[in-house]
Formats: sequence, C-alpha cells, structure tokens
Amino acid sequence: MCGIVAYVGDNEAYPILIKGLKRLEYRGYDSSGIALINNNNLNLYKKQGKVIELEKFTEGKDIVSTIGIGHTRWATHGAPNDINAHPHYSKSKNLAIIHNGIIENYASLKKELIQRGHEFESDTDTEVLIHLIEDIQYVAKVDLVEAVRIALNEVIGAYAIVIISKDNPNVMIAAKKSSPLVIGVGHHGEYFVASDATPIVEYTKNVVYLDDEQIAVIEKGKDLRLINIKNQEITPYIQELEIQLETIEKGGYEHFMLKEIYEQPTSIKNSMRGRLDVNKGIVSLGGIRDYEQKIMNANRIIIVACGTSWHAGLVGEYLFEDLTRIPVEVEYASEFRYRNPIINENDVIIAISQSGETADTLAAIKLAKEKGATIIGICNVVGSTISRETHCGSYTHAGPEIGVASTKAFTAQVTVLTLMALSIGYKKGAISDSKYRLLLTELDAIPGKVEQMLKSDIQVKYISEIFKDSSNFLYLGRGYNFPVALEGALKLKEISYIHAEGYPAAEMKHGPIALIDEDMPLVVVATKHGNYEKVVSNIEEVKARSGKIIAIVTEGDTEVKAIADHIIEIPATEDCLSPLLTSIPMQLLSYHIAVMRGCNVDQPRNLAKSVTVE
Ligand code: F6R
Repeated sequence: MCGIVAYVGDNEAYPILIKGLKRLEYRGYDSSGIALINNNNLNLYKKQGKVIELEKFTEGKDIVSTIGIGHTRWATHGAPNDINAHPHYSKSKNLAIIHNGIIENYASLKKELIQRGHEFESDTDTEVLIHLIEDIQYVAKVDLVEAVRIALNEVIGAYAIVIISKDNPNVMIAAKKSSPLVIGVGHHGEYFVASDATPIVEYTKNVVYLDDEQIAVIEKGKDLRLINIKNQEITPYIQELEIQLETIEKGGYEHFMLKEIYEQPTSIKNSMRGRLDVNKGIVSLGGIRDYEQKIMNANRIIIVACGTSWHAGLVGEYLFEDLTRIPVEVEYASEFRYRNPIINENDVIIAISQSGETADTLAAIKLAKEKGATIIGICNVVGSTISRETHCGSYTHAGPEIGVASTKAFTAQVTVLTLMALSIGYKKGAISDSKYRLLLTELDAIPGKVEQMLKSDIQVKYISEIFKDSSNFLYLGRGYNFPVALEGALKLKEISYIHAEGYPAAEMKHGPIALIDEDMPLVVVATKHGNYEKVVSNIEEVKARSGKIIAIVTEGDTEVKAIADHIIEIPATEDCLSPLLTSIPMQLLSYHIAVMRGCNVDQPRNLAKSVTVE
C-alpha cells in the first residue's frame, strides 16, 4: 500500500523518482506526487491517477533538483484526488513528507493542532504528522531530527516516511514502523530510499533495511546515521541486494502477469533448488532445520495468511495432514488476530506471504509469538518484515512478483509447503519410503510438466474468447483442487471484474446449483485422482441443467471429454502435486479474459500488491 521513493545526491532527482514510482505503482495507483527543492523553493507536484498523469502534469515545469521525494498512493484517509495525494507540506511549507501506513490517532492530534491554529488542506493523516513535526520543532525549539523523534513517540500506527526541508537541501530524514523502507547507499555519497529495492537496484546493490522505530538521517556525502526513537545510536548494517534488474522488467511480455505465469517452470525450480536431491532421496530446508523437531512434535499447525497466500495455505493443510499426520488449521490472518484464538507453546504457526508485509498476517504472527508458539515464515520478498519477525522460515525464491494478481508466488508457496510436508512427514515416519521416493521424483518433474502445460495457452485463449462476456463463473474442485477452485475464482474476479465463486464440487448441490443455466460457465478440475468418479457425477449434474463446462482433466481422459464443452489437459501427476499444474490454466483463463475485456491486468482497480493496512 503506497510506494515511496526518494533521492539525494549529485544527479537529477526527477528521472530517478519517476522511474522508481513506476516500479512501485503496483503498491497503489490512486494518485502520485513528488517534491523537489531548487533555488531555495520546495515545490510539490501531485496528480490523481497513475504516474503517467504526473509526468504529463510536470511537463514544462521547473523540475531541476538533486533532492526529491516521490509517492504513489493507495488511498486510506481521504478520497483519491489531487489534494490528498502525497507529498504534503507542513504549516510553513518549509517541510514536505511522503508516508506509507496509517496514523491511527491522527484525529486527536489534528484536533489539538487545529486548536493551536493549524489549518489543513487535505483529509489525510499524513498532513497531520508533518504539521505535528513542525509544531514540535517550534514549540520545543529542537532541530528537525529531534522533532521527528519526539513526534514518532506520540503517534500510534504504522509509518514509513521520508521528509525533506527547504532549509537543508542535502538532507532527507526517513523512519519506519510496520511499513517497509530500504535505503540504497550509492556511489560518491548519494542515497536512495524506497518501499522496496526495485527503484534502487539499477543504481546500487548496497542497501540498509530499516528496522521498526528507527530513524535515518541521510545526508549527501556523509555517512548514514541511524538512531531509534529512544535516541540510541545504531550502526547501519549494509547488505548486498540479490535481485537482478531483468527480473523487474517485462522482458518482451505484454504484461507482468503473463511474464510471471510463464516464469513458473523456473520459479518452481528455484523454490526447490538446493533443497531437493532426488537421487539421494533428500529434502532439506536449511531455514527450518533447527526447528524441525519442534514441528514434528507440534500439537497442531496453524497456517495464517490472506488472499492467494491463504489458498496456498489450504493446499498446505491437505499436504501436511496427508503426509505428516499433524492436525492443521488454516486461518484468515485478519480473523485469527481478532478472535482471541487458543494458542499454546506446542503450536506451530506457518505464516505465508508473498510480500512479507501484509499487516494482518504480521499482526497474527505477533499475537501467536506472544503466546509462545513457534513461527515459521514462507515469504517471497527477502528481508521483508514477516521474514524477520518469524523464528525460522523458507523463502519461496520466485523472484519479484510485480503483477498485482499473484501467480508464480502461489505455485512457489505450494512448492515450499510440499517440500516441508515431505521432509517432516518422512522424518516422522508418517509416509512410507516408497511413497516418499515417488513424490520426490514426481515433484522434480513438475517444472517440466508446467512447461508442457503452458502450451495449452492457445487453447485457453480460444476458450476465453467464448466466455469473455459472461457475468458469472463457478469454479469447482475437490480435495487438493478445492483450494485451486477458490484461487481460480479469485484470479478471475480481481482482474476481469467478473463475479466468480469457488466451491468444493460436492457442495454445489447444497445451493449453488440453483444458479446453473445456459449462461453459467463452470470451470471444474476433474483430474484422475481419488474423487474422480464423484466429480464426473457433479459435472453430469451441471450438464443436465445446461451449464457450460470447461474441465481440467488428466491427459488422455475420455469420460469427461464426452460430456464437457471444453477440456484442458494436464500431464499425469500425483494428486498432492496436481495444484501446481491445475492452477496454470486458471491463471491463463483469467489473464486472457481480462485482456479481452480491456481491463488493466497488472494494476486492477482498487487493489494494491502489498496490503500494509488492516
Ligand atoms: C491475489 C493477491 C492477494 C494476496 C494477499 C496477500 O492475487 O495477490 O490476495 O495474496 O493480499 O498478500 P501477501 O501474500 O503479500 O501476504
């Protein structure tokens, strides 16, 4: 939610900020804005809509500056218009701020400031914060850094902020709590600040990830200074970035989403790299090694996540119960954190998050940690907050996912969950040696089978053309493919704005069957596994009511082919691995339908990639 980018150095800030904002647009695209200092003026340029609108707006304007801050917004407080766009000025207009997060006590702070003569232009919590900081500067007669520190002790909520001051065009002050912030240490004393490393990576690979309640004083040509809000000095820890520039560019694809769908043979392989040795019969996840005994002895596993990651968690439930015989519960992080859950020291929590920044998942982790549970993270973004808050974990290594709709992150999460369940299950003696060996061999073959699956793209595009104007879709699956049905429906909803619902196939006759008529397309997973015959019966029930059937079947299937309107074949695999294949045509279907309907696939309306608000 909201992207932040900032620069100070000897180069022109404007192009760095604009390019950075475009990279961060996936975090929100309601409005964008920049602040630049030149000739002793602090100028703000902001515009509702995407960064392209801001670029048009700044054409011909004075944008020469070697310091600047930029923001792309996902609206929380206040409508997505020009006024509420960031940056915001302080009362004197000497300071400007950009902010990602929510100041929860902004209303009471605003009331006090109004009583002291402050007037506000916007409806945002952010404007309140910068007014408060300046107010403290004057009232307490302290410098800007100290005023920021005092103010941050007064605010409740989440923030990643960067502030610049007209009085000092070589300095930026940055701070964070619960929202991410990374500082790039460039060459010759230049610095970059951003919500994630994507705007930084082409300039420097040396970065410092700020921790919660840390304040950075970033001055051109000087060493980076860090303090915390208790005023203790901290030595910055400079790390080297691992991401490559190519991974955050479209590489010839029309959309990031399509590129990411096509990357899955590689991203799944990368999730297994160094962890799976079929010949030696070894699965080894270094990140959880020290906690494996604890997991094996767990009373139960609770998986917490949101959205697509929650769907991966549901696949995880089937995997863990099947392969380890440890009871599993899967919880929406947003519900779990607020319902006073029963958690004890023998529980193991698995938190799944692509971004590693999702506010509800983070809060669920903190709650479970307080109650003594062991927390394992499955995150994609290296160094993200969740990955640092957990006791141990395994990265998915899917590479940056830029498209707002999650695709390769889902299959990578399922891959890591599979590896974990296999490793624990085998060590625990819950699966036989022969089954273990078979599953390792099959898992190793999955990237090749995904590659094969992607060849069905032409056929999926053809099917998409037929159904692109439908108003509703039903998705059905059983067992391991029930979560895939949920995920397929979510993908279609979020990028094509078509209403879609996922159901366990057998539940259809308990209600949703009433919806079936000749205008209702039904996407059903009917692969040759445990419940195959039952799914075939479910398909017959739909057929009898004139529903249109798109079936995902195992290669060579004839029974479903005879009754379905369209079939998409997947290569044969084990039941527990099938979600890694069946999810691919669902991703492609939603992608093509959305493109055909003229939707913005990579940046669907109202959404943001990283949900750092509750
Ligand atoms: C859907 C999607 C979202 C995310 C959810 C959790 O395509 O991307 O539903 O899965 O917001 O995000 P992470 O995984 O970053 O915690």
